[in-house]
Amino acid sequence: MIDRLDKIRTEAEKAIQDAESMEALQELRVRFLGRKGELTRVLRGLKDLPGDRRAVAGQAANRLKSDLEAFLELKLAQLKESELNRQLQEERIDVTLPGVPVNSGRKHPLTQVLDEIKNIFTSMGFEIAEGPEIELDYYNFEALNIPRDHPARDMQDSFYITEEVLLRTHTSPVQVRTMEKKRPHLPVRIIAPGKVYRRDDDATHSPMFHQVEGLVLDENITFADLKGTLMSFARRVFREDVRVRFRTSFFPFTEPSAEMDISCVACGGKGCRVCSQTGWLEILGAGMVNPKVLAMSGYDPEEVTGFAFGMGVERIAMLKYDVNDLRLFFDNDIRFLTQF
Ligand code: DAH
Repeated sequence: MIDRLDKIRTEAEKAIQDAESMEALQELRVRFLGRKGELTRVLRGLKDLPGDRRAVAGQAANRLKSDLEAFLELKLAQLKESELNRQLQEERIDVTLPGVPVNSGRKHPLTQVLDEIKNIFTSMGFEIAEGPEIELDYYNFEALNIPRDHPARDMQDSFYITEEVLLRTHTSPVQVRTMEKKRPHLPVRIIAPGKVYRRDDDATHSPMFHQVEGLVLDENITFADLKGTLMSFARRVFREDVRVRFRTSFFPFTEPSAEMDISCVACGGKGCRVCSQTGWLEILGAGMVNPKVLAMSGYDPEEVTGFAFGMGVERIAMLKYDVNDLRLFFDNDIRFLTQF
């Protein structure tokens, strides 16, 4: 019996010593100490021995059992440690390698300019209004005093969906929608930024572009309010020392109507290629709201006066950033867009 135990000890110690993996170690645990393991079988055989030999063999077998358990634990710890060392050696992370840059997006230049325009006007007390891009003929033309056969319709050739429904050609219909919603409330101070559509396509025109409309209504609003508001806008969006001038113009929904020019941002007003040698750049249309438009939208032209304006966002962005082709804004070329 003692011989058998010695044989098991020698064999097991050698096998455990040579085990190369935790799985192999687990197999050895089963082989020697498992329910059908070699040592277990010996322990079961003890009961057939006579008393005195049983005691001696029992002690030896139990010692062997606890020795093997301890040895298995020790070997397991060693295997774990060498596995960890291997990982630290082989899977080392080189912290000095250059990082992989993350491409972060940015706002489109037109969105940036739109945000800036909105900030300037909201800081002057304007609210932001919105209207649909698919618009009724009534709001786009009729209610702005542009009847069916008016020649002013020629300036804004449109995309029609039906005879009565079209893609809006300007943001001016939002004036009408705002008045219908707010009447008889005063004062009204809104800007309406958004997309508009026209049948145009060249270096300075795109079939889709952006406008910002403005409308101010109250008692005693005068042309001086219009001039002051738009002049401070121009100074903030371009530069503090920009000069403005107003030229008479015509829009059916304003009377009188004007166009506002700013001194050329490229040459300061001396005359250059950008301003076609005139020293001035046209940037928006404006005027006092036509009494007919007020009346159609439910405000009493005897009590209420107001002014309105409309500007092209692409044009302002082109002047601000010296961009010479409007289509660049819509090509989505990353080399262009990352410059802003
Ligand atoms: N809606 C005009 C256009 O697209 C621009 C405009 C001119 C708007 C004068 C106005 C205004 O509100 O008063 O050409």
